[in-house]
Amino acid sequence: MKKAILITFLITLCNQASFAQNETTVLTIKNNADAPTIDKNIYGHFAEHLGRCIYGGFFVGDTSKIPNTKGVRNDIVAALKDLKIPNLRWPGGCFADTYHWKDGIGPQEQRPTIVNKWWGGVTEDNSFGTHDFLNMCELLGAEPYLSGNVGSGTVQELSDWVQYTNFSGKSPMSDLRKKNGRTEPWKVKFWGIGNEAWGCGGNMTAEYYAGEYRKFATFMSDWENTGGITRIASGSNSADYNWTEVLMKNIPLNMLGGVGVHHYAVIDWGKKGDDRNFTEEGYFKTMQSALKMEELVTKHSAIMDKYDPEKKVAMIVDEWGGWYEVEQGTNPGFLYQQNTMRDAVLAGATLNIFNNHADRVRMANLAQCVNVLQAVILTDKAKMITTPTYSVMKLYSVHQDAKLLPLSFQSPLYTFKGESLPAVSASASKDKNGAVHISLVNVDAKNKNKIEIDVKDLGVKTFTGMIITSAKLQDYNSFDTPNKIVPTVFKGFENKKGKLEITIPPFSVVVLEGK
Ligand code: AHR
Repeated sequence: MKKAILITFLITLCNQASFAQNETTVLTIKNNADAPTIDKNIYGHFAEHLGRCIYGGFFVGDTSKIPNTKGVRNDIVAALKDLKIPNLRWPGGCFADTYHWKDGIGPQEQRPTIVNKWWGGVTEDNSFGTHDFLNMCELLGAEPYLSGNVGSGTVQELSDWVQYTNFSGKSPMSDLRKKNGRTEPWKVKFWGIGNEAWGCGGNMTAEYYAGEYRKFATFMSDWENTGGITRIASGSNSADYNWTEVLMKNIPLNMLGGVGVHHYAVIDWGKKGDDRNFTEEGYFKTMQSALKMEELVTKHSAIMDKYDPEKKVAMIVDEWGGWYEVEQGTNPGFLYQQNTMRDAVLAGATLNIFNNHADRVRMANLAQCVNVLQAVILTDKAKMITTPTYSVMKLYSVHQDAKLLPLSFQSPLYTFKGESLPAVSASASKDKNGAVHISLVNVDAKNKNKIEIDVKDLGVKTFTGMIITSAKLQDYNSFDTPNKIVPTVFKGFENKKGKLEITIPPFSVVVLEGK
């Protein structure tokens, strides 16, 4: 009999198991009326003043020959709209706790410069500021998520920022906004109170930060008494469960809209491995780290459940993704890396985890959107390409705001040098038009997997599919071959009287649609 594991647990206990390639994984879909809706914000992105994310990425300035709208590249806006980008976090990251928003408003020539201490020590001229970002979000149709400066900022400064962006009445900050050319407030909903307060955000203890949070949150009125702002606590570093426990215990729930979690898929922080010339071992270790997200979300959720059984407070995974050594020859402080099929598998499997935990995970932000870490878009002067991760986000966008269809199955194993991981990752949802979407990932680098799903009771008749795969795990889209990895039609399944029989190739991502 095939040795298998429950997808959530026991990964390490199963290290000795062998893989039985020809067996079929039976996946059961539960049409559960109480299942949560998958918040579209799980498909959020992150843009920091880091390397070429903002300058040379999103923002080229309005005198550039690259087609732009008030300095923001039109091709990037179009690509992200196509992705249905629901929200965008800005201005950091570590940069956020050095950022003073008043430096980035008013006439360009009067804006002071600062040195970007975290990212390459470059001089930041503040030419991309609050108006530029919030107007860009309007172009994108995305909710802005502003990260406030707690580490080196003041309570007054953050409370002023909220008033500046959100107040329509007469006040010092709304008058200033109007003077700078914007009459109507933008009504920013999502506000981060610091970033990585345990590290670059101020090296605080959880207890100290909880006190700071309470103080900052107290003065962040929404100014119009609509209850409209969501205050988000800087969350734990991966498996720091004590951090979540202390915040949940010490911050009154009515002050807490969300608690963050940051987790990067990293082989080893001291030796992160090459972005594209990696071995199967490098791939396996990256996926080991990425799939740890299941355990992290489960355990952080269990802590949150103790203090908030009604699940009012959202878990917000506001930084996630693969982190490798920078592309050879690029500035180490700019975190530019190539994006391969490994990243597509990583994204597909991680998004399945978030979908399946939609009862608590209500926002996530891939790090980062353009030219940094696991980017969905890369640029080289006037050229722009989308990455395999972009294609995954695009296919998975069908899950946004759809009702989760909980799954149960036992994953076969992907075994490498005596260690094992679940080989199959899956999630499913039903959208408001009744269409069913099933996203499947085969994590195994060498073996195909057979999956069987009973779809008789789902109220759909026919299925179509799309796949993201390539000849090699190390393949990527370059500026010369921008379409090497794009979604193509998937025919590797048969519907046998209400039973879908699917064969999914190694390291590939499939999304099936039933209508
Ligand atoms: O995304 C890069 C950096 O990673 C962010 O600035 C920081 O929050 C995290 O450590």
